[in-house]
Amino acid sequence: MSTPPATAKPTTTPTPSSFRSILRLYEYVRPYRWRILGGMGAAMGASLVALVIPYVLEWLVDGPLSSGDRAQVLPAGLAILVLGVFEAVFIASRRRLVLKPSTQIEASMRNALYNKLQDLPVAFHDRWQSGQLLSRSVSDLSLIRRWLAFGIVLLIVNIVTIIVGFVILFTWGWLLGAIFLLASVPIWINGLLFERRYSVVARRSQDQVGDLATSVEQSVHGIRVLKAFGRGHTKLDEFAEQAEALRGTEIQKAKAIAGIWMWLLLAPDVAFALCLLAGIWMASQHQITVGALFAFFSTATVLRFPIESIGFLLSMTFDTRTAVDRYFEVMDSKNTIQDPANPKTIVEPHGALAFNAVHFRYQDAGAEYPDLIDGLDLRLRPGETMALVGLTGCGKTTLLSLVPRLYDVTGGSVTIDGVDIRDLTRAELRRHVGVAFEDATLFSTSVRENVLLGRPDVSGAEAETLLREALDIAQASFVDDLPDGVDTRVGEEGLSLSGGQRQRLALARAIAARPNVLVLDDPLSALDVDTEARVEEGLRRVLAETTSLIVAHRPSTVNLADRVALMENGRITAVGTHSELMATNDHYRYVISSLDEDQDDVDQREEAMA
Ligand SMILES: Nc1ncnc2c1ncn2[C@@H]1O[C@H](COP(=O)(O)OP(=O)(O)OP(=O)(O)O)[C@@H](O)[C@H]1O
Ligand SMILES: [Mg+2]
Repeated sequence: MSTPPATAKPTTTPTPSSFRSILRLYEYVRPYRWRILGGMGAAMGASLVALVIPYVLEWLVDGPLSSGDRAQVLPAGLAILVLGVFEAVFIASRRRLVLKPSTQIEASMRNALYNKLQDLPVAFHDRWQSGQLLSRSVSDLSLIRRWLAFGIVLLIVNIVTIIVGFVILFTWGWLLGAIFLLASVPIWINGLLFERRYSVVARRSQDQVGDLATSVEQSVHGIRVLKAFGRGHTKLDEFAEQAEALRGTEIQKAKAIAGIWMWLLLAPDVAFALCLLAGIWMASQHQITVGALFAFFSTATVLRFPIESIGFLLSMTFDTRTAVDRYFEVMDSKNTIQDPANPKTIVEPHGALAFNAVHFRYQDAGAEYPDLIDGLDLRLRPGETMALVGLTGCGKTTLLSLVPRLYDVTGGSVTIDGVDIRDLTRAELRRHVGVAFEDATLFSTSVRENVLLGRPDVSGAEAETLLREALDIAQASFVDDLPDGVDTRVGEEGLSLSGGQRQRLALARAIAARPNVLVLDDPLSALDVDTEARVEEGLRRVLAETTSLIVAHRPSTVNLADRVALMENGRITAVGTHSELMATNDHYRYVISSLDEDQDDVDQREEAMA
């Protein structure tokens, strides 16, 4: 994945106390809402049972215990035991009810995200760092799952418990209740202040985790280069710097949490102490019974956990809100490359590829690039093989990527058999167009699956024939010497192949797709001259029926072509056979003579000419 410019990294800071984004989770929660509500009901039941126990205690203390009626003590004890069992059963059912849907929701959100990432155009992936996408699809989603599994449930239940609990406290003794309530006020105030501070650092921390993931991904990807240049330690320093920044943010987060925890732990203790003093005085004045005082403190004890856990649950909720924001940032990204409303089809495909006054420029979130392709016209006849030649960086790869609609033109049109490719569904377009790019990407799967990637429609003997043929043309018989033949796993987790081997498999993949239009970006650059000649021989057979546009960096590749197109300043400035152009075109001769040389030489010569 390419490294995006720093400006492109999405770092929107959410406006504090907007919870609308979290509500958007509902579309995923909907199928499981009854189970989650059931879980919430169970949690509520557990809390209510816990709040009933003090009533039994009051009755026990003021009744049988003070009158000395031992016969009543046992039933009262049993009643408390039964209530305790009920509470345990409720808690267990909450877990059972909520755990499964939360994992299912996580899975469906992750699938939706993956789907979206596959659907989004290349331009999106140019802009976004892979690590950001990785952290969103892994850590953010698991945070959301945990929040759904108990965060939201306990938050709501605890708030209700606190409200009901305070009402009960007031019935035991309004003065004591008032003291307890007043002592809790600092908690609520701090909770509000906490939200402000916390949501900003939470977002920063989650973004930094994404950056860190990007660093690891890039270093692992580029491990050979780093090692070869002995730059591992610089990368390490960079990584350490990022890790340090993340650590700083985490410490800020922990400080914010510690700040609220202090109040959460201190306030109830202070409240308990004040109530105890007041309660003992009131009991001595006979304003409250010992049983009621006892019940008051049991109720207050029940409320301790909900009050203490509110801070943790709040911070979790803010983290989750950030995670949801980050998730929907990706999900809301617009895919500009869409299927048309009224798709056309190519009834009789001949493969006449044409570029009509095509304009194209790369677009980024912040930056505006000039037109790289600037009113380019080019027509390929059906069945023709055309080589595309131009100086490095003139936009050849870019031009090819317009054909499978990896990018859309910003002006003009690309047509196949007279039909604008934007009027075809993407599925149909991909049936007509086969591609192989410079960097031959293979997936961590068998040779067979890599080559037949574009042909999910064939199977069995037909697939086997197709596979053999494609491998044969691409001169990829080396696969038979691999440990498991065409079933050998290649790519990142499998056997490493050489550059030329990879290229030949990528070429076989393009051929196996049996397209009418084949676009090849310098497909033979890593091959030796002999192998190249044999591949060309094979290609000539296929290319006879296929229209192909081939970027050529070597004169030998140019030889493949019926005609050659010369690209210069975003346009095609000349089309003709190799010998025609050699005879008539200065720039062509210059490009051809530079093709075999090092870029340095070309640069030097350009300087000399200037
Ligand atoms: N995703 C992108 N975003 C912005 N600019 C890009 C992007 N990809 C390529 N470019 C720029 O577009 C120009 C043309 O690139 P392109 O890869 O099409 O050249 P090329 O003709 O294929 O070169 P080469 O012969 O070296 O393969 C370059 O200046 C490059 O920096
Ligand atoms: Mg290129």
